[in-house]
Amino acid sequence: MNATVVQHRPLEIRPLTPKLGGEIANVRLADGMSDALFRDIYAAFLRYQVLLFPPQDVPPREQVAFARRFGEVQIHVMSQYHADGYPELYRLSNLDADGKPTGKHPDKGTLAWHTDGSWQHVTGQATIIYGEVMPETGGETHFCDMYGAYERLDPLWKARIANLRAVHNLDFSRTRRHGEDPMTEEQKRAKPPVDHPVVRTHPETHCKCLYLGDHAEWIVGMPYDEGRALIEELNALAIHPDLTYEHRWKARELLLWDNRCVMHRATAYDPATQGRVIRRCTVLGEVPV
Ligand SMILES: [Fe+2]
Repeated sequence: MNATVVQHRPLEIRPLTPKLGGEIANVRLADGMSDALFRDIYAAFLRYQVLLFPPQDVPPREQVAFARRFGEVQIHVMSQYHADGYPELYRLSNLDADGKPTGKHPDKGTLAWHTDGSWQHVTGQATIIYGEVMPETGGETHFCDMYGAYERLDPLWKARIANLRAVHNLDFSRTRRHGEDPMTEEQKRAKPPVDHPVVRTHPETHCKCLYLGDHAEWIVGMPYDEGRALIEELNALAIHPDLTYEHRWKARELLLWDNRCVMHRATAYDPATQGRVIRRCTVLGEVPV
């Protein structure tokens, strides 16, 4: 271990809701991290599903280094969003080169409930977002606990979906949210649709969760429209006030969450008058089972 690394054990964790989310008060990510501290953070990540670090400087290099502790970091197919020379970082911004709002929302797809990377064979594990600029109103990030969403389903629903697989398709979700800015043919070829179980078992907690969201298009073996209706119904059933945490951002906060067991969305803001700039990194997980 590097002698300059500061120890912060035990972690000071403030729960954000009774079930979901915890704020870690006593870690500064730019100070470096011992293996023992990372193990504690990882245990909190599995327990709380969403972790918040209060306002602090997290330069791009430190954000990527932190993400690499979790696993292999995704290089996103949408290369127009790569940030600061780091292909691991994906910047969503509505500001122009002079720092003025452009009026264009950089990713309307984030406004619908989804789970990052579900459109890939190997799906997203952690997403790590640093808030560079935050609007005064709107632009929140909301989370919903997918263990709880599965548990709330009645036995008939659970039996009905037990062995179903959904096809997740980035082109589908992107096109319907961003009709004016679709994927290129090359990007589509690079990321063809994939199917995943509707109910997945978290590989580390071994608990079942609902796994759908906005990238889920249709159900294998079911007529298209019937599958669409089922997905829409389950996506709506999943969201419940007892299972959600709504985060109102302060600039320079860092949020991280477990895509295997939460869905998330951003709320709208006025991109013509307010700035919102985030730096995002997604860690690859595994093939869902
Ligand atoms: Fe997302």
